[in-house]
Amino acid sequence: MKIIGHRGIPSRAPENTLEGFELALKLGVDGLELDVQLTKDGVPVVIHDEQVNRTSNSHGYVKDYTYQELRLLDFGCSFSSEFKGLKIPALEEVLQLLHDYDTYLNLELKSGIIRYEGIEEKVIELVEKYDYVEKTVISSFNHYSLLKCKEISSKIRTGTLYFAGLVEPWIYAKRIDSEFIHPYYYNINLDIVQGAHENGVGVFPFVVNDVRLAKKFQEMNVDGIFTDNPVEIIEAIKV
Ligand code: G3P
Ligand code: CA
Repeated sequence: MKIIGHRGIPSRAPENTLEGFELALKLGVDGLELDVQLTKDGVPVVIHDEQVNRTSNSHGYVKDYTYQELRLLDFGCSFSSEFKGLKIPALEEVLQLLHDYDTYLNLELKSGIIRYEGIEEKVIELVEKYDYVEKTVISSFNHYSLLKCKEISSKIRTGTLYFAGLVEPWIYAKRIDSEFIHPYYYNINLDIVQGAHENGVGVFPFVVNDVRLAKKFQEMNVDGIFTDNPVEIIEAIKV
């Protein structure tokens, strides 16, 4: 079971920052999950919310800032003074960082609330530029975005994010040519994991922060979990 650092390692460092990603990698995660939005001038940047309010020292929508304007903001101080001055990462910087690591990468396109024109093309272009296609999965709650990714490159793997208690979700995943389901963890059980696997679909529930639950999912043979607490879970399950 892969242990994927959800937004890096937000239990120990500011979410979706290079420093958080590096720390998560050093502490032994099998992969990273991060969120991508586009700036006013079309640069893919790594941030979960559509607005900068929660994670920076400023306010407003990512889409209303140019990349250079966003780089002036502080994305560390709202976490703790120890991380004061951290900058929002461009997706390209994360791919540069990963050059030295052989790690799984889950890029979530935040294309559900704001329809960022061209986000799929821009992200895939970067993943190809850094030769990271085989290690990457692109996920989204906007499944039209996932279809578009497949149109751009049939080689790019996708993960279908959802919250609902879907019946036989692998049928839907295969309908949209998606290799993985990424369900809210409440909505999976052994039958779903087995059904998905029998149909060639992998299962990565989100967000699993409880050690006992992680062990339960390991027993169910899920392919991986997204977690905010990778260190605690790695220690508990990899003994
Ligand atoms: O990929 C799973 C998870 O990241 C989806 O939810 O809101 O944390 O991006 P969210
Ligand atoms: Ca995410």
